[in-house]
Amino acid sequence: MQPNYGTLHPFDNAKELAENACQCFCDLARATIEQSGVFRVALSGGSTPKVLYQLLSKEDLPWEQIELYWGDERNVPSDHQDSNYKMVNDALLTPASVPQENVFPIPTTVGNPVEVALTYERTLRTQFDEGDEWPSFDLVLLGMGDDAHTASLFPQTDALNENRSWVASNWVAKLDTYRYTLTAPAINAAANVWFLITGENKRQALANVWGEKRATENFPSQLIEPVDGVLWWMVSKEAMPPE
Ligand code: 6PG
Repeated sequence: MQPNYGTLHPFDNAKELAENACQCFCDLARATIEQSGVFRVALSGGSTPKVLYQLLSKEDLPWEQIELYWGDERNVPSDHQDSNYKMVNDALLTPASVPQENVFPIPTTVGNPVEVALTYERTLRTQFDEGDEWPSFDLVLLGMGDDAHTASLFPQTDALNENRSWVASNWVAKLDTYRYTLTAPAINAAANVWFLITGENKRQALANVWGEKRATENFPSQLIEPVDGVLWWMVSKEAMPPE
């Protein structure tokens, strides 16, 4: 089975996927920096990308020319065990001594959820070209849940229909909590978007996302269709849908 949009990069296992993603990240970062002097990437939470971050922490990358953002965040402080920032800090920022001035976490404690999303959007608009309609990330890393959510674009949630803001606070009833997320148009404006998907529990979700039926309310990962950018599906064998 193949994705309807983008290209499939299958791997035998999660380790091979992470190693390949690490090499591709380094190649893209170096090429982008060579061309424009800076590499801006939005990081994903979740266990799959964590392995990539641990590998990247051992690479000799020009971190002073790499800006790190988050594609989504939980509604917890940055030192909370569920924080995507904390996961990245432990796996990459601290081990690689990434300069803090290049790290732009979602400020989850600045106020209520709407204020958090607005604050982060202001940060993005400051870092990217204020006048741009959408942020031009060089790379957005994404995972996918077994419910076909990506970032914090969960099924049947309001953020799925947000088509003006770059960042949304999103009430996720099934988790009984707010999440913060880049909106689908903000992700789709990126030059490169990579899904990193592992785990047998993703097979049915992936079959739904790649299936004939377009139902973005139920399969939010179907929303990810970069306008001009490149979409890669890096998928470990056990997560592949049955042929
Ligand atoms: C999060 C992630 C989320 C994640 C998926 C897949 O905040 O949890 O952004 O969207 O990517 O849940 O997670 P795994 O890679 O751990 O399966």
